[in-house]
Amino acid sequence: MGSKTPLTQNKKLLSWVDEITKMCQPDQVIWCDGSKEEYDELAEMMVKNGTYVRLNDEKRPNSYWVKSDPADVARVEDRTFVCTKNMEDAGPTNNWRDTDEMKAEMIKLYTGCMKGRTMYIVPFCMGPLGSKISHIGVVLTDSAYVVNNKRIMTRMGKSVLDILGEDGVFIPCIHSVGMPLIEGVKDVPWPCDVNNKYITHFPEERTIWSYGSGYGGNALLGKKCFALRIASSMAREEGWLAEHMLILGITPPDGEKKYITAAFPSACGKTNLAMMIPTIPGWKVECVGDDIAWMKFGEDGRLYAINPEAGFFGVAPGTSMKTNPNCMLTMKENCIFTNVAYTEDGDVWWEEMTDELPAKLTDWKGNEWTPDKGTPAAHPNARFTAPASQCPVIDPAWEDPKGVPISAFLFGGRRASVVPLIHQSFNWQHGTFLGSIVSSEKTAAAAGKVGELRYDPFAMLPFCGYHMGDYFNHWLEIGKKTDSEKLPKIFYVNWFRKNRKGSFLWPGYGENSRVLKWVIERICGEGKAEKTPIGWVPTKDALCLDGLNISHQDLEELLKVDTEEWKQQIPLMKAHFAKFGDRMPAGLQDELAALERRLENSNIG
Ligand code: OXD
Ligand code: MN
Repeated sequence: MGSKTPLTQNKKLLSWVDEITKMCQPDQVIWCDGSKEEYDELAEMMVKNGTYVRLNDEKRPNSYWVKSDPADVARVEDRTFVCTKNMEDAGPTNNWRDTDEMKAEMIKLYTGCMKGRTMYIVPFCMGPLGSKISHIGVVLTDSAYVVNNKRIMTRMGKSVLDILGEDGVFIPCIHSVGMPLIEGVKDVPWPCDVNNKYITHFPEERTIWSYGSGYGGNALLGKKCFALRIASSMAREEGWLAEHMLILGITPPDGEKKYITAAFPSACGKTNLAMMIPTIPGWKVECVGDDIAWMKFGEDGRLYAINPEAGFFGVAPGTSMKTNPNCMLTMKENCIFTNVAYTEDGDVWWEEMTDELPAKLTDWKGNEWTPDKGTPAAHPNARFTAPASQCPVIDPAWEDPKGVPISAFLFGGRRASVVPLIHQSFNWQHGTFLGSIVSSEKTAAAAGKVGELRYDPFAMLPFCGYHMGDYFNHWLEIGKKTDSEKLPKIFYVNWFRKNRKGSFLWPGYGENSRVLKWVIERICGEGKAEKTPIGWVPTKDALCLDGLNISHQDLEELLKVDTEEWKQQIPLMKAHFAKFGDRMPAGLQDELAALERRLENSNIG
């Protein structure tokens, strides 16, 4: 059970808690121990105050439905800041604020912001307890919803303080919903300050201050704020990698298991790939993580990865027994569902979960819902918080403190044309170049011109905590730290290529195992490939297509490298690189020039 007296002797932690308590002025302070009793007690409290609705225990045991304020439903990139002394250090992809100025503004907001509330002290470990790859954080928050989400998403509580000891180092994080219960203010189920959201990062002193939002990555500070923005900056200083990547293990029928990671921008199927069921007989995929990978060099000179998280915080709509059965099974109990729809029999529902609509639904705003309303029943960014340990294909080594050795990196985006199903880089520098040009096309559903490209380098655009040009350089430096044969091989995939009629050429989902098989073969020095100006592409007979109904013509289109189309990409890539000014590393400029030359000299297309 949580404690009113400190559960630690760590001097830095005690004095910091003291300082922040004086500033935020909560009514009481609770040290969270991470126990089940504490979780249940907080859940019970949230049921009573209307934040939580307990789901039908026969349908979805020990799980809760939560509706947020309709104005607090997603990460707010325009309210997310990287604060440094010099603006150039945040780079062109981040909103910058001067450290001192931002702090002064935040201190004004934080002063008295927890009046009438409880401040919870939540120690958490990103990564398995005791792993050399893991790092510890402590968040002070006035949201019980955050505490309980963190218990699923991280290892949290007393065990973390035990590891921290008297002088262990932690990342201090402050989170407030920004709604003090001063006289005349009545509490609401989802308190927040919709007009004053600030998600601020101070990479130079490794701290995170968040105010005004209770939702997702704005409030669960271990995830995007710590594990990506602050960790990417730490990783650069210390020579490791903090990446927006899933991690999976893949085992051939009678071969050796390999681990690979993959970085795709949002809405490109990372969680689906991480838990996929291969369609090729005898192959097995197991999940280490679906969103973030931290990688450090092992004594053998290879990169070892951990999933810093302990749960999945995934988008619910679109997830079904058809698209991702393992994910659906992960969510069968002990979950928190935020902004999904609610069924008559006390369960949850979202768009595409089932072919048939449940008889009666309440939408994410709490209103009765029928399809003719014209609005979605679940918010498109509705989320599930689910323990990773419940995933039916969780990898046996997912909590191994050593991490898992990585053999390949996959990059990819959503491209209707130009980019083939898969290609492999010539070497590390060329692979870094492929990461730097990750891009997705806007679909008709998104604002902006259809087909317009958005570059999202390494899928880190909103998550790199420093200058992206320096980040590219860090990747090049990583490649110099070990023997080249020990480095992961780098690939670029595109599941989304379309034919002239606009239909997808590749079936995706479990069929992607056919592409992973070729990746494994290439890692092992096998797998037939043709050298093209953009990299190694599978020969027409290289992919296992047994049992797949795909025409010769479609396959040709999927693997096609059209020189003219690629030449048209060059000016876009140049404009993309120009954004990073003189921090753009020469190695990547060289790769772009080399690609242009190879295209000029090529007869393919
Ligand atoms: C996420 C994201 O929520 O990338 O994982 O936006
Ligand atoms: Mn993500």
